[in-house]
Amino acid sequence: MAEKARIAVLISGAGTNMAALVYASRVGDCPYEVVLVASNDPAAAGLALAEAEGIATFALPHKGMTREAHDAAMEAAVLEAGAQYIVLAGYMRILSDGFVERWDGRMLNIHPSLLPLYKGLDTHARAIAAGDSQGGTSVHLVTPELDAGEVLAQVRVPIVAGDTPDSLAERVKLAEHQLYPRAVADYVARGQNPVWLLDRLRALALALPETDERESHGSPGFRVGGDKTGKFFAYFADQHHGTPHIALLVRTGSMDELLNLVESQPEVYFKPAYYGASGWVGIILDRPGVDWDEVVEWLQRSWRSVAPKRLTRLMDVADAF
Ligand code: GAR
Repeated sequence: MAEKARIAVLISGAGTNMAALVYASRVGDCPYEVVLVASNDPAAAGLALAEAEGIATFALPHKGMTREAHDAAMEAAVLEAGAQYIVLAGYMRILSDGFVERWDGRMLNIHPSLLPLYKGLDTHARAIAAGDSQGGTSVHLVTPELDAGEVLAQVRVPIVAGDTPDSLAERVKLAEHQLYPRAVADYVARGQNPVWLLDRLRALALALPETDERESHGSPGFRVGGDKTGKFFAYFADQHHGTPHIALLVRTGSMDELLNLVESQPEVYFKPAYYGASGWVGIILDRPGVDWDEVVEWLQRSWRSVAPKRLTRLMDVADAF
């Protein structure tokens, strides 16, 4: 089991979503732990619960501070706690662009509507007023534009006769308490998830010219050069032939290069069974801190080494600009 991801949860009020995140982290082998609960309101009920649970807390009222200064103090507390992700749970402050950009891809929010519907406030009242048959909740990545980042997961909740914004909010919260811990867990563990890794790799491999995907000995493989004469330049190997890794296999230039890579960076490279004999190297993907730009470079290089001349010539021309 990989090390647990460290998350900081920011709240402004009751903190019931924070509580759901904390208790889910204590069940089974949850891939995250809550290392800080922070608030812009020292009276937020959730802070007392976090304290009682032995979790570090931080509170700083925003009154009289610029947005940037308040964000900077919150961020300092998050960094001090060693958090790798910021999880907003009813944190009712708009964040400055700089703060959000520094945490790009590492800051999540839960919003009580089926985004892209009803960004901002009063979501339940607006859904009821519109005569919608259902409301719901969305977990999304935080980007500078309010409630507009990629939606990671949603749950729908029916609107029933006689619903008020409060009665609907209460039911949506029940759904949120199920959704948020699951969505956070999936997100922080995506780097060990073969489905996510293959999707990401596939998108990068198939973005190269004249490529297609074809299974080979049970592994997804990527080829260049057309249906009949195509040649493989990459394979996705999920714990194949007894290796413990999820890996990308690509061609190196020589056996010497392969052995050098494996010797100098054994945490990144390995010599795969069978393929290694013909100079293919394994690049471990289910490890922390994968450099995806480097993955792209390896894919391009391997593609280039087997692509027909007419295609590499085009690439050379493109590269020259
Ligand atoms: C939650 O319903 C959450 O979706 C919402 O505030 C509530 C916080 O409740 N967030 C937003 O409206 C963000 N724009 P909680 O403090 O009990 O978790």
